[in-house]
Amino acid sequence: MGQRGEVGAITSAPAEALAGDIRVPGDKSISHRALICGAVAVGETAVSGLLASDDVLRTAAALRALGAEIEPGGDGVWRIWGRGIGGLVEPEAVLDMGNSGTGARLLMGLLATHPLTSFLTGDASLCRRPMARVVAPLERMGANFLTRDGGRLPMAVLGTDEPLAVEVRLEVPSAQVKSAILLAALNTPGRTTVIEPVATRDHTERLLAQFGVEVAVEGGGDGNQGAAISLVGQPEMTGRQVGVAADPSSAAFPTVAALLVPGSDVVLRETGVNPTRIGLYETLLEMGATLEIRGRRELGGEPVADIAIHGAGRLEGVRVPAERAPRMIDEYPVLAVAAACARGTTRLEGLAELRVKESDRIAAVAEGLARCGVEVEAGEDYLVVDGCAGPPPGPGPDEVIATHMDHRIAMAFLVLGAAAARPVTIDDGAMIDTSFPGFVGLMNGLGCRLEAAGAVP
Ligand code: S3P
Repeated sequence: MGQRGEVGAITSAPAEALAGDIRVPGDKSISHRALICGAVAVGETAVSGLLASDDVLRTAAALRALGAEIEPGGDGVWRIWGRGIGGLVEPEAVLDMGNSGTGARLLMGLLATHPLTSFLTGDASLCRRPMARVVAPLERMGANFLTRDGGRLPMAVLGTDEPLAVEVRLEVPSAQVKSAILLAALNTPGRTTVIEPVATRDHTERLLAQFGVEVAVEGGGDGNQGAAISLVGQPEMTGRQVGVAADPSSAAFPTVAALLVPGSDVVLRETGVNPTRIGLYETLLEMGATLEIRGRRELGGEPVADIAIHGAGRLEGVRVPAERAPRMIDEYPVLAVAAACARGTTRLEGLAELRVKESDRIAAVAEGLARCGVEVEAGEDYLVVDGCAGPPPGPGPDEVIATHMDHRIAMAFLVLGAAAARPVTIDDGAMIDTSFPGFVGLMNGLGCRLEAAGAVP
């Protein structure tokens, strides 16, 4: 979707000290949710700082097909004219969610409690990912699904006109599953409750509250403990202005690059520091990183701050406990890169969910690090990385890192290239646009040496 800026192989050569004061693009999770909330609110919603990446544009296109009006403004503000809760219309064509697990799962929730028949599909990666975790609770609410074997896309969603309020205990700690149920609950009379044993990102709850929905949260509170989250369906939702924080999962790449290249000084502005998202920062601080989280404030109901990183060239290996996984889920690939340069061993535990992300990230990280001369052990749900106490050797001259068409694997290994002894080449940067358009330009602006083989002018 859209024109890709970074198609083909990209090489990242060892960098000198990085410097800059930047804001990475908007948060992907919040951007999907802002569009969805706007589409079911009454009246106009204006979203500034929206991430206009492939994944989010898929969600925008699907919501347009469901009757919402969505326009990017010349002023960078996206405007949405919503249909009101229960007001979505049956889409004429198949909704193609591309690479986006969040888009697909959140829309499944929204569609489940509208009496419409819709069809969802995605790219090869998305069609491999498990959807039964979302289908099962939504079936309890009255929807029906016709899926490929194993509950996979493509699928038909047969929404119900008699939705049932239920209480669901999450089997998998997944914000996507929680959010799908909460979005289904919007058009369900009565109180729907989701119990999450472990806290997952709470952007849906925060954003619904911004739109005037009363979301009750019992328990939780410190970003670690789970909670019971509930809402009474068919509330008034009115359009409003939303500002989107810079994405901490995107900020992770310049953060680790700056830490690994000695002498670097980088500031990342207005970055999301929601307690359910800051596992990487907690871990890097434990590893001895010199980084400071300054100027905490609020944007769109979310805590944000400026992150100042100084590359002092010293990180120590640590054990990262399984209970931190939901707070760090997308950051493990780049954390493994930091671990590869640290002194001592880093043990990452509780990684089972990484096997079912955009690629099998345990396998992809292990394979890539081994190719760069790093000792790594991959288990079913863990990774052990033996740090090189400085720059890892990097791959041989003709060796290329396989990204398995996964944006975060691509960016993590380009960060490794900035810190390794030899340049790192990845097979394809095309998927980077799903979450971080402009990544190559932004990293080069800081002093990285990334070169795309087949850049589209
Ligand atoms: C997301 C939740 C996480 C994360 C994904 C975005 C979200 O997935 O990995 O990139 O926006 O809710 P799970 O909730 O399935 O772990």
